[in-house]
Formats: sequence, C-alpha cells, structure tokens
Amino acid sequence: MRVLIAGATGAIGRPLTQRLLAGGHEVVGLTRHDDGARRLQAAGAEGVVADVLDRDGVLRALDGVRADAVVHQGTALSRTPMRHRDLYPTDRLRTRGTANLLQAARQVGARRFVTQSFLYVYGFVDHGDGALTEDAPLGPAGGGRFDVHVAAMRANEQHVLAAPDLDGVALRYGFFYGSEPGTHWLLGMAAKRRLPAPRRGSAMSAVHLDDAAAATVAALERARPGQAYNVADDHPLTWTEYLDAVAVAAGAPPPPRLPDAAFLASPYLGTIITRASIRLDNGKARRELGWAPAYPSVREGMAAVAQTWRGGRH
Ligand SMILES: NC(=O)c1ccc[n+]([C@@H]2O[C@H](COP(=O)([O-])OP(=O)(O)OC[C@H]3O[C@@H](n4cnc5c(N)ncnc54)[C@H](OP(=O)(O)O)[C@@H]3O)[C@@H](O)[C@H]2O)c1
Repeated sequence: MRVLIAGATGAIGRPLTQRLLAGGHEVVGLTRHDDGARRLQAAGAEGVVADVLDRDGVLRALDGVRADAVVHQGTALSRTPMRHRDLYPTDRLRTRGTANLLQAARQVGARRFVTQSFLYVYGFVDHGDGALTEDAPLGPAGGGRFDVHVAAMRANEQHVLAAPDLDGVALRYGFFYGSEPGTHWLLGMAAKRRLPAPRRGSAMSAVHLDDAAAATVAALERARPGQAYNVADDHPLTWTEYLDAVAVAAGAPPPPRLPDAAFLASPYLGTIITRASIRLDNGKARRELGWAPAYPSVREGMAAVAQTWRGGRH
C-alpha cells in the first residue's frame, strides 16, 4: 500500500512511518519544512513540503502524487497546551486541515482515509467510573470554552466518516507517551523532583506510541469503513497514578501533591488533570482490528521509555 501521511514527522508519525516501511508499504510524508522532507527521505520515505492549512498549496504540491490511503496525524502540540488558545491551531488542523486533506485524498486517488481523533471527543467532563465504548454519545458536554475543541474533534470525525467516496476511519487515541521529546521531558522533570501531581487526579486512558502506530497500521489494513475505534491501553489510570508511574520509571520519589486549585490556574490542562475523568474501552479495536497493546498499562510502557531516555542522557 502507498500511504500519504500528514504529520509523518510528528510523535506518532515517526513510528507509524517506520512500521509501514518495515511492513513493505510505501510512505509519502507531508511536512511544512525542507528539513522534515530530508528526514523523511533519510528514513526511507518520500517527503512533500506543504502546509495542510493551505488548500491550494497542498493540492499543488501533491500534483502527480498517487496514494492508496491517507492518514491525518497533523497536530500543533509541540508545547503542552495549558490555555484554551494553545489548542486553536490544532482545532484548525481538525477542521480546515481535514477538509483540505479529504480533497487531497481524492486528487491522489486514495480509497481509505484514517484520521486522528482523541479521547475528549466524548467531552471534557467526568464520565464516571465505567469505560466508554464507541457507542457513548460524543460531546459537547463541558460547556463554555471547551466546546470549540470538542466541536473541532467532532467535525474532523464527521467529515471523514461521512465522506461518500472514501472509506473513512477515526481513531480515538488515548494520551500518547513513548520515546519522544515530550515524554523524555516529563521523565526529566520527575528526576529533578519538579513534577507535581494532584492529590486525587481525574482518570484517563493512555497508549504507548508504538502501540498507537500498530493500531493505525491495523486500521489501514482492516478497519470497517465509516467506523471509529478507541485506541488505548488496558488499564486507565488517574493522573496521580500516571505521574507516580513516571516518577518510578525515572527512579524518583513520588511527585509532591498540590491542591486542584494550583492546576486549575491553567484552565485547559487543569480541567483535564483534575476534573475530566474518562476511561476508554478498547474491545472494538481488539476484536475488529486484531490489535492488542504490547504495553497493557503506563507502568510497563513508561519503564520501557525510561530505558531510551537514560540511554539518551549519556
Ligand atoms: N493523543 C495524544 O495524546 C497526542 C496527540 C498528538 C500529540 N501529542 C503530544 O504532543 C507533543 C507534540 O507532538 P508532535 O511531536 O507530534 O508535534 P506537533 O507539533 O503536534 O506536530 C505533529 C505533526 O503535525 C505536522 N503539522 C502540524 N501542522 C501542520 C501543517 N499546518 N501542515 C502540515 N503538517 C503539519 C507536523 O509536521 P511538520 O512540523 O514537519 O510540518 C508534525 O509532523 C508530543 O509530546 C505528543 O506525544 C499527544
């Protein structure tokens, strides 16, 4: 299969590209930078330089390119989003970016389109103790300033799943972690004892990036058209447990506890960490994609990440 990936240079795009190439597929990666294209070529893929938000530019850059499938993994999260406005560029990639990539998919002759969605498509609220299946209603449920982010996630999914001429699939990933700068930074902060945790954080589902990449390849090969899949590990944790696992992996003592109010000073991040409890049921992805996470929980996965992090420090 020849796969066009928007976001091929990003946290999930890199292991996804490697996995596709190792499986005998061809990859064309979209990036905004010449340097990104060079890195893609060095990895064995092709690089095409274009900004996904520039419709005419993308279509021009892809003139003459053919692909069987398109994967949208474009986000703008290089810095951890703390405030609502930090999410707006990613919201645009999920609305205008998706619309432009759907046009690009038609131009390159693709049949399948897989898009990145996120666990908070179900809403930034407390979903209780049960794990959500894909049948759970989507947000908005938080109200106020969160609705714009949920609306962007929903628009992304709806455009892709309802595309009449494409086999659209949405992957509702849990929180990514893995051997990438963001997770290495967290381990470093824990090692320096500068990573605080809430006293009793809200719950969330996570997924190791290698497992997320494996699920994405499985979705390209086997997902049912028009379907959304939760892609998360087997054991949701509270944020307090997650940050404790980071500290254990870093060889540090448990992070100091702070009251919720200290986190809520960052309205977006604080709500996620202290209020918006959500656990994902991964049964549908297991059954229909034939996928299972190699790292059943963050505790095992973070220990593996810490090995590469330690290696990189010497
Ligand atoms: N589910 C999750 O938990 C989740 C999801 C996404 C990211 N994250 C986290 O966020 C952090 C940063 O993620 P990241 O390294 O993937 O970086 P990022 O800055 O979010 O970029 C992601 C990818 O999107 C591409 N991109 C962004 N805007 C684009 C545009 N206008 N046109 C074309 N491509 C565009 C980037 O390509 P170029 O820069 O090469 O153009 C890059 O390949 C990581 O720690 C990651 O784990 C978490």
